[in-house]
Amino acid sequence: MKQLSLAIASLAMISGAAGAIAATKVNWQSVTVTLPTPGGFYSGPNATLLNANCVTCHTAGFVERQPTLSAATWTVEVTKMKNAYGAPLQDADIPTIVQALVAMQAK
Ligand code: HEC
Repeated sequence: MKQLSLAIASLAMISGAAGAIAATKVNWQSVTVTLPTPGGFYSGPNATLLNANCVTCHTAGFVERQPTLSAATWTVEVTKMKNAYGAPLQDADIPTIVQALVAMQAK
């Protein structure tokens, strides 16, 4: 019974709060935001692959700000994303991802 009256009291408080919110007039407006560049996502021919594997945790800017790296170094880097940071990459996809990164930097 005590629980029931507590529940009723809580409900009364919630509906009271909802009433206060409903009484507040909200003026919704559109805003325009210019995102920083390099942007969040990859673009170009390999964008789909890289966006699928490499933007879960950080933006494409992490890659775009790197100096030109060899395929061997990118392999170490991508493997580090998987083993050290837990990126859900399939081992079989790593060579393709590395090729995409090398091709992106070659442009
Ligand atoms: C599970 C999360 C996660 C995913 C997915 C991920 N990364 Fe990272 N990445 C990190 C973290 C964490 C850092 C380190 C951030 C810091 O030092 O502030 C990082 C840093 C980097 C850096 C900067 C250099 C360095 O080693 O710190 C590069 C380049 C990079 N990631 C590339 C990639 C690429 C390419 C992919 C896709 C294959 C990828 N990341 C996917 C978590 C991730």
